[in-house]
Amino acid sequence: MDSSKDSQHFSMNGGDGVHSYVKNSSYQRGVLETANAIIEEEIATKLEISTNSFCIADFGCSTGSNSFPVMHTIIEAVKQKYESSYLKTPEFYVYFNDIVSNDFNTLFSSLPPNRSYEVLAVPGDFHRRLLPPLSIHFAYSAWSLHWLSEVPKAAEGLKSLIWSGGENEEVYAAYLGQFEKDLESFLKCRAVEMVKGGIMALLIPALPAYWDPQKEYTVGTLADLLRSSLLDMAKKGRLSKARSETFNFPCYTPTPEELRAILQKSNNFNIEKMEILKTRTLLTIDGHVAFFRAVKQNMLMHEFGDEIIDETFDLLKKKLQNSVAYANPSNDRTIVVVVILKRNDV
Ligand SMILES: C[S@@+](CC[C@H](N)C(=O)[O-])C[C@H]1O[C@@H](n2cnc3c(N)ncnc32)[C@H](O)[C@@H]1O
Repeated sequence: MDSSKDSQHFSMNGGDGVHSYVKNSSYQRGVLETANAIIEEEIATKLEISTNSFCIADFGCSTGSNSFPVMHTIIEAVKQKYESSYLKTPEFYVYFNDIVSNDFNTLFSSLPPNRSYEVLAVPGDFHRRLLPPLSIHFAYSAWSLHWLSEVPKAAEGLKSLIWSGGENEEVYAAYLGQFEKDLESFLKCRAVEMVKGGIMALLIPALPAYWDPQKEYTVGTLADLLRSSLLDMAKKGRLSKARSETFNFPCYTPTPEELRAILQKSNNFNIEKMEILKTRTLLTIDGHVAFFRAVKQNMLMHEFGDEIIDETFDLLKKKLQNSVAYANPSNDRTIVVVVILKRNDV
């Protein structure tokens, strides 16, 4: 079985536990506030659409708890823009998209009661067409586009992505190539679905171009240490051989420069703004393990079974404890890129 394709059939956000964890996590707090301020500013200065029905889509919404405040921000900013232009306030519709196995019931049952918008759920892969042509005025996607549609062949077998000389060059290039292919598919589909002048806000976890893996860490380091823990488990014979030989994480965190180069190739969108935000996690080692367990546990259980989870994350914890970089939370160099794109006339 193709493990990467199969990843579409389980919750990539790790289910309920994750959601509340990620919502309250300092991985996102602060970043979301700054991103919201950027979105407000861009709507005030760049939105030039007059419509009676304003449609917003959130791609990779999960169960919605991080999405609802952002949808509120977008709608209030659009209302203000319309009022200041003496236009009648439009009706608002929000399309919530995620993979088919997403817990949409939790999303529906936790919708803000006083919201000023109607809701539609759009289950499906956002690398494909999901919505009618020319139907979306504002597209949003946060912490989702780093999920790839599949693990590139060259990376199978838990190969490390951290670039540390020639041996990983092929893996690095394969992951970057897959990320580029997926992001291009995403943009091509959204180009059909969005109206001309429509605005897109993307929040993508990223890595700085230069950082010192001996003294500093990023979310990429954490993934690599988890890979290494899984390899230790495989050596102990605790993982299915066949699965560990084909498995790797279908995720890639680009550098801002890689991201910009891919976005600039799009004929349909112009980059209006690109800001790099520091995540400032200040997590303890237990906090990192809990965060990553919440994010990756479902996928690992699906691949290797429940019985390997505790032991794998205990190994991860030991690796973090032995790492000089993780001794001090201020060594975290993880960043998030906030990008604002505008659908052009092409
Ligand atoms: C880390 S969660 C982020 C959730 C939310 N956007 C937030 O800011 O908290 C990533 C979400 O992206 C979804 N996702 C990943 N790949 C996807 C795809 N190809 N199509 C639709 N949703 C996808 C996952 O299912 C998951 O719910």
